Amino acid sequence: MNILNTAKPYSSLGFDKLEAAEIVSRLNISLCTYQVFYHKLQNFHWNVVGSDFFDVHDVTEELYRESVNDIDRIAERIRVFGEVPTYRMSAYLRDSIVSETSHDKSAEFMMKDLTGDIQKLIETFLDLHEYAASNGDVSSVRLSEELIAKLELYHWKLTAWMNRRYQK
Ligand SMILES: [Fe+2]
Repeated sequence: MNILNTAKPYSSLGFDKLEAAEIVSRLNISLCTYQVFYHKLQNFHWNVVGSDFFDVHDVTEELYRESVNDIDRIAERIRVFGEVPTYRMSAYLRDSIVSETSHDKSAEFMMKDLTGDIQKLIETFLDLHEYAASNGDVSSVRLSEELIAKLELYHWKLTAWMNRRYQK
């Protein structure tokens, strides 16, 4: 890949058609997964009950506010390639690698479920990172690195919360 390579029959930002499609496909999987995660955060934010109400209520609000910006960055990276980011709710559910959850769950379940989803989100960005790095897409490399670093922090915080019983 060379941004000045004009020998390719089709090129967008120096990527050939297959390279661009592979990058956009990975960005869309991350986007769809993040959208389902975002709505799950709101579900838990609104519906958590019990003595851990404020713990779950507050961290889910912090996370869904962060998620809005992250989702926007992923979608706009897709636009840079001239493609249309996935926008249909039905497609989010179809292509996400995390699933919806009902509202009537314990705080422990919610925190564990979110931790698992964060792990899966990180996996989508690792996949994006690997492909982008081997094809010279430095912007997608940086985007995935930044989002992975942020998600790893939340993974640690939620895991620490779940381990609180060992502190007593
Ligand atoms: Fe709220």
